[in-house]
Amino acid sequence: MRKHLLLALLAMCLGNPGHAQNLEKGKEINATCAGCHSEAGQGGSRGEYPRLAGQQAKYLEIQLKAFRARTRVNIPMYPYTQERELSDEDIKDVSAYLASIELPTKWPVFKDTDDALTRLTQTERVMIIPRAPGNLANGEAIYQKICVTCHGKTGMGRAMFPRLVGQYTNYLMRQMEKYVAGERPHDEEGIGGLLNTLKKDDLQDILAYLTSIQETQQ
Ligand code: HEC
Ligand code: HEC
Repeated sequence: MRKHLLLALLAMCLGNPGHAQNLEKGKEINATCAGCHSEAGQGGSRGEYPRLAGQQAKYLEIQLKAFRARTRVNIPMYPYTQERELSDEDIKDVSAYLASIELPTKWPVFKDTDDALTRLTQTERVMIIPRAPGNLANGEAIYQKICVTCHGKTGMGRAMFPRLVGQYTNYLMRQMEKYVAGERPHDEEGIGGLLNTLKKDDLQDILAYLTSIQETQQ
């Protein structure tokens, strides 16, 4: 009962004005997604499947619609995004649900009896991404000059602009390579856009910087 009330309140805060998203329904839909993105939306196989938990709801919606329309190519996901599988309403619900998940930002403390699998599963559920190598000062300078307007000062994104902090480094690099190759549109300045003005080392430095500004709890 109490859980339902909390979910309903959360839905009211997250949803569009006048239309509360159905988080219970979103959770049910997420069972299909969990096979690849894991149960709590933490992603998996070290970035082959991106993290969805805590991502901006609006951004998730736009991507799911892009997969369905094939304007963003995603062969593994295409069948799951067909109209009969995932209606516009389902997209809203599952996006609101995933956005509402808060993964822990604190490393788990293990007992001696915990086996390797338990340790791995719990570690993967933590929002912290291992530090990526690169020049932090250069990454910070470029990020805070160019990327900040859309992705935010702390890399958390906003509405249609995705959160970058907490996302797997190799997934983000793969996406930037796709943008630069013109396989995925990034911003309104045309193919590749902003990212085309940067060197590969600069992109690596930005990713290193993003892993250095994560909020950790001791
Ligand atoms: C068969 C595996 C598979 C299933 C099932 C699956 N996905 Fe994915 N999904 C992927 C892969 C792989 C990618 C990354 C594609 C790429 O590299 O561009 C992805 C990417 C995404 C993205 C883009 C994330 C970002 O940061 O841009 C979203 C959103 C997403 N999936 C949502 C879902 C939802 C919601 C479901 C359930 C309805 C789902 N996926 C089911 C494999 C899957
Ligand atoms: C004008 C706004 C804007 C600016 C500035 C901007 N971005 Fe983006 N970025 C976006 C939008 C919009 C998307 C989602 C595009 C889509 O729908 O595929 C995005 C997506 C991304 C993604 C993919 C995230 C994911 O989960 O798949 C990466 C990585 C990224 N941006 C990196 C950067 C970096 C690095 C910079 C600075 C050099 C930057 N962006 C500057 C608007 C911007």
